[in-house]
Amino acid sequence: MRGKFITLEGIDGAGKTTHLRWLEYFLKERGETVIITREPGGTPLGEALRGILLDDRQVMHAETEALLMFAARREHLDKVILPALSRGTWVISDRFTDASFAYQGGGRRLSLQKLNELECWVQGEFQPDVTLYLDVSIASGRQRTSNIKQADRFEKEQDEFFRRVREAYLERAKKFPERIRVIDANQSLEDVRRSVEKSIATICA
Ligand code: TYD
Repeated sequence: MRGKFITLEGIDGAGKTTHLRWLEYFLKERGETVIITREPGGTPLGEALRGILLDDRQVMHAETEALLMFAARREHLDKVILPALSRGTWVISDRFTDASFAYQGGGRRLSLQKLNELECWVQGEFQPDVTLYLDVSIASGRQRTSNIKQADRFEKEQDEFFRRVREAYLERAKKFPERIRVIDANQSLEDVRRSVEKSIATICA
């Protein structure tokens, strides 16, 4: 049986990493084989591209940024995601294509048509089985990222950028209500977990 593909999305500081680890534990307890991966990244080439994309000393055109995101994704699908799914392994990815629509489309205001074309080129009809979008206010996202490491090229952006990213995520959730579940991540950890569990119930059945 083919494994399931779950993606987690949210603005920086939404708490993806915490919930991703818990989701991995939850699925393993149920007896699934699970791998965790991330974008940009997930392969040696993808991780090298991630280094460039997140490096705040890099200056690049918004389309270059989008092309590099999709180049990393092409490699990720080919080397990690698709082979794992066909082995029956479940794949949880910290971000996937919705992030390109939110950050490059919303944040950088890139043409959605161009992003659609890249999506079509890189993944055809392939989509996650479910996407959990952890929604937090810009202020709480900021608060959570300000405690950690040095800010990367995206985290250095202004609130206005993240407002556009968040709006683009919510737009996308409206467009694909079957696949994208919006989870209010301002709730307590317990409540978010309950929502995550509920959101994946259909694919666990
Ligand atoms: P993130 O996943 O937040 O990692 P960390 O928690 O270690 O900071 O960092 C990845 C950044 O890349 C994030 O700011 C969003 C951005 N990104 C895009 O702009 N487009 C994309 O398609 C993807 C996958 C990520």
